[in-house]
Amino acid sequence: MLISYDKDRRVFHLHNKDISYYLVVDDRGMLQHLYFGSYLPDIDIEAITYHDIQKTTFLDKETHSEKEEPFRYFHPESSMLEVPSEGGADKRGGMIVIRQKNGTAFTDFRYQDYSIAKGKPLLKGLPSIRGGSDECETLEIKLKDVLSNVYLLVRYSIFSDKDVIVRSARLENGTKEGVCLDKAFSASLDLPDSDYFLCHFPGDWEQERRFVENRLADGKLVIHSNFGFSSHAENPFCILRRPGTDERHGEALSFSLVYSGSFAIDVDVNRWKSTRVSMGLDDEDFAYTLSPNESLQLPEVVMSYSAMGLGKLSRGLHDLIRDNLLKRDSYRKEEQGIVLNSWEDTYFDFDTAKIMKYIGAAKDIGANVFVLDDGWFGHRDNDSSSLGDWHVNTAKIDLSKVVDFCHEKGLRFGIWMEPEIVSPDSDLFRTHPEYALGIPGVDLSLIRHQLILDIGNEKVRDYVWQQIDNLFKKYRIDYLKWDFNRYFTEVYSHFLGSKDQGKTMFGYVLGLYDLLDRFTKHYPDVFLQTCASGGGRFDMGMLYYSSQIQGSDTSDAVDRSFNLYSTSFGYPLSVLGSHVFSNDSTSVATRMAIAFFGTYGFEFNPDRLSEEDRDEIKKAETVYSAYHLDCIQNGDLYRLSSPYQSNYLGMACVSKDQKKAVVLFMNYRRETPLSRFLKVYGLKDDSYYVNNLDGHSHSGPYYKNVGLNISKRLTRGNEARLILLDEVD
Ligand code: DGJ
Repeated sequence: MLISYDKDRRVFHLHNKDISYYLVVDDRGMLQHLYFGSYLPDIDIEAITYHDIQKTTFLDKETHSEKEEPFRYFHPESSMLEVPSEGGADKRGGMIVIRQKNGTAFTDFRYQDYSIAKGKPLLKGLPSIRGGSDECETLEIKLKDVLSNVYLLVRYSIFSDKDVIVRSARLENGTKEGVCLDKAFSASLDLPDSDYFLCHFPGDWEQERRFVENRLADGKLVIHSNFGFSSHAENPFCILRRPGTDERHGEALSFSLVYSGSFAIDVDVNRWKSTRVSMGLDDEDFAYTLSPNESLQLPEVVMSYSAMGLGKLSRGLHDLIRDNLLKRDSYRKEEQGIVLNSWEDTYFDFDTAKIMKYIGAAKDIGANVFVLDDGWFGHRDNDSSSLGDWHVNTAKIDLSKVVDFCHEKGLRFGIWMEPEIVSPDSDLFRTHPEYALGIPGVDLSLIRHQLILDIGNEKVRDYVWQQIDNLFKKYRIDYLKWDFNRYFTEVYSHFLGSKDQGKTMFGYVLGLYDLLDRFTKHYPDVFLQTCASGGGRFDMGMLYYSSQIQGSDTSDAVDRSFNLYSTSFGYPLSVLGSHVFSNDSTSVATRMAIAFFGTYGFEFNPDRLSEEDRDEIKKAETVYSAYHLDCIQNGDLYRLSSPYQSNYLGMACVSKDQKKAVVLFMNYRRETPLSRFLKVYGLKDDSYYVNNLDGHSHSGPYYKNVGLNISKRLTRGNEARLILLDEVD
């Protein structure tokens, strides 16, 4: 049993062998948080909630006199709450804010009922963690707002073998009128102190997900995107770690939003030095009117806990994503395929002969998927036209011939699309300007010469689906690269009335999920890779549909090394689309080593490779087939050295059976032959492993206590290398 309920004390306990999450229904019907951390067999509510002042005074409605009420556990400013209220004495802010009939924003949800069930239901219309009845249990608690008949159903799931609590919230309007929501966050967690560093992942185009830490101080830190997608600027994922926590020791908590649109994570330290972490839909352009009897499901949140450092926290998230989020389990077992993509070499300048030459050369470098990128449709010879007109430019490319040739050569064929977008210079826009989002009467910002289609609307969405479906019905395409290359501005839907404009952004994301859902259901065998100007939509929401997301647009191996290091905190390397490029000053061996710690693939013209580079790439084929699937795609990751804190990147991926491992080491600035040892973790204590750096065999404890001797090796600037370890008898 993973969830227990103590009826007398009204305490819920969600637990597995490692973690406990306690909450209590207090005597006012408030849902109070008690504890999230290492497994605790019992909880002392009085001791946890004691704050000296356990009473509240208020004006009694009947007698118009001051009344004092002692509450057993509650004080508005210090209590830890699961669903904080808005507008009362707790000034830390509500999780959900209803604009009430009387005009106030006072919102206060109180307990009504609960149920506990095996398994975990999927969320309707939204991506969510999957969980079978043999691996998890779900608690659902029903609450009701004190002023209106609006109900909130909060769900908590716990897994037997994963140190996470998965939370979600659904609103139900039981009134006879529309109810306007000013704010709709998915979850909130109160922590009793503020002794934490907040690690988050801000960035930019080609600089996605840099690792940044801020010590919590008084006041609020907000991690958010109001770009309409999860964006390059931030990632819907963050960590709170204790000051002493490192990769292998100490406490850390993480928060991931399973969502791909604008989001916010607020981390608020109040005047009493407690911390409230709350997260959900960003409030820019958000105001949602719920019709009578309408319900609104809000995005899911994954909260994870580790008492043994950041490494364990990340490995837990990697397993959760691979086991319970990615759609097609087969990708876990099979190689995803090595892609050769034509984009970085050709851009829009190609024809049938050129593409066939690429395909002809692909096998020779070990690729088994060819992806034809942007430029094959409409009259798109540069990025200023044709998005929306998804018919093949036959003057430029004979697609059937190319697809057939690809298959003859034993390669899978992939194609690029940007389905959510329209170019003003397109037949689609000329016929249906109203399909694009944009406020009438104002100049619309064109970003990369394009506008966004209003796929929150069913008619527009059906049109987009028709275009995708037509293409996939006509051609035997095995792989889709689904791109998205601009952010939202001047948000307005021509299909919504003035009172519903605040629904546009959320509706858009639901529309996107519907399209992705249709695609994965209609074409279950087509591999879906997503991309947003590189890694601009890298989140758990997208991973529900697509098993791989392009990590970045940067072709710089050094930038990529930082990107893969920081991405690994919240996401497994198996989902990180990463290629070897040619326009870079590092050696091809370095670029390959970096790309190997991701999905591995190529984005260059194979015919332009030097003999030496070609040999290097060919040599990697055997390494890929012997190690990539077991170590990178399905293995356990250990971060050994941080490029943010040292001159080295060190990471190891160990197969689940601990029989082999691949270590990535990179040296940034040139170094004199220093004495350097890289300690490797994750190996068996009672086994020996031979390494291909010096050919020596050492025990697991030797690697973790002494390490690989890399003195006098790899001393040049920006040099990376893969080191292979194999168990020996
Ligand atoms: C942005 C992507 O990140 C690139 O890989 C490429 O597909 C271009 N779009 C094509 O326009």
